[in-house]
Amino acid sequence: MTQEPSREQWGTRAGFLMAAIGSAIGLGNIWRFPAVTYENGGGAFMLPYLLALLTAGIPLLILEYTLGRKYRSSPPGATRLLARPAEAIGWWQVAICFVVATYYAAILAWAVRYVGFSFNQSWGEDPEGFLMGEFLKVSDSPGEISTFVPGVAWPLIAVWLVVLVILILGIKRGIERANRIFIPLLVGFFLVLVVRALTLDGADLGLDALFSPDWGALGDGGVWVAAYGQIFFSLSVGFGIMITYASYLHRKSDLTGSALVAGFANSSFEILAGVAVFATLGFMAAEAGVGVGDVTSSGVGLAFVAFPQIISEMPMGAFFGVLFFGSLVLAGLTSLLSIVQVVIAAVEDRTGLRRVPAVLAVGGAIAVVSTILFSSDSGLHFLDVADHFINQYGIVLAGLATVITVSWVLRRLPALQENADATSAIGLGVWWRICLGFITPIVLIWMMIDSLTGEFEENYGGYDTSFLLWAGWGVAVGALAVAVVLSLVRWRRTPVAPDEPRPPQDRTTQGSR
Ligand code: ALA
Repeated sequence: MTQEPSREQWGTRAGFLMAAIGSAIGLGNIWRFPAVTYENGGGAFMLPYLLALLTAGIPLLILEYTLGRKYRSSPPGATRLLARPAEAIGWWQVAICFVVATYYAAILAWAVRYVGFSFNQSWGEDPEGFLMGEFLKVSDSPGEISTFVPGVAWPLIAVWLVVLVILILGIKRGIERANRIFIPLLVGFFLVLVVRALTLDGADLGLDALFSPDWGALGDGGVWVAAYGQIFFSLSVGFGIMITYASYLHRKSDLTGSALVAGFANSSFEILAGVAVFATLGFMAAEAGVGVGDVTSSGVGLAFVAFPQIISEMPMGAFFGVLFFGSLVLAGLTSLLSIVQVVIAAVEDRTGLRRVPAVLAVGGAIAVVSTILFSSDSGLHFLDVADHFINQYGIVLAGLATVITVSWVLRRLPALQENADATSAIGLGVWWRICLGFITPIVLIWMMIDSLTGEFEENYGGYDTSFLLWAGWGVAVGALAVAVVLSLVRWRRTPVAPDEPRPPQDRTTQGSR
């Protein structure tokens, strides 16, 4: 009988933690959190945010760590070992990661270019016109590709080369080592950025705007939905990333302690990002003599329009620009590695392909799709719509499906709790089962109803219905459809639960290869 190749492992617990934190800290922390906080009650938002972290984020993180470590397999294998039909959920997470990776890399490529643009403030007097026109050459007809934009293509290819080389090196020599270098560098960059931002004129106005609590906002259901949504994206739960990363853990690793460290490290960075971004926006508002609310934006508008404008206005703007866009690149790169690794690990686990061919075939395919779609003049439209739909009807829905399957259908929470507690310094207690069995599914169902209602009231982003149907709903529903098909395929390798006797037919299959 041939021996199954032994699974790679993280070099140390600190290495795993660094990679888990690197995956969590990403674009979501820097450009999403500050604006979400501001728009949802400012200082008062910290209450729903912390509750979302404690009742959904950390419990789900522990669940994903436990599934990955227990079954030592990427999401399709881990969910199949939970129950055969649940394999579709694992493949769904793989398909989601495929989609997210294609556009996440594009944002990194823009940030790489903007590090260079910062030196001489190439965006000139009109950063928005520069971004949409000269740089991205955004088409007026969303979805129609008429030009290829070389200025986006080459940094995008460079980002993919770096990602693929790191992934080829493997878990310990590639991902772990990259995170050990990039995360301390990111923290260093960001601390300098925070100090610089806090010493700008008007910084106090920005911080006041961010943290002044509007307690009335807590009565608005949308604020709670926003808190749970932020925690999901920011902690990287629901993508299958943490199942994948935990599958390379040592059998005796502490799970609960690691989840607490990763969760709080991510939130601390998020608050630091809020301080840096709003202190800077306060400077911009003071310069323009307007309120902070008039200059607040998020996502692409914040990073590639508002920040370039501020960089042009401030003393030593080039230095600030390099730190800001450099931080985006570092934070995004460590998250992108984790997202692509989910797809590669799934293919390795189920086809038996070795690491290098798997990275070249799967990573290469994602890179090609990403470069073709996002170096086009419709790239920004694709990104905007795919991001919205895959988040709302991919990540959150897959997270909901996992929680309902584990806690309501299979009733596996007590067994998984025992598994996590067996090697963790902190016992989980009944709160973990209450969070995952009641609070998380109920809040997620409510989130789903809330966002679906919004979808039918108004077209997302004012786009045409036909474009939203194929580029938004098509991508989200397509990911699920592909997952169902992949779960029905008879793969070369059937996952076997570690420590459990193999069924006789599997022994024959394994032995005959
Ligand atoms: N957690 C990652 C982010 O915040 C995906 O961007």
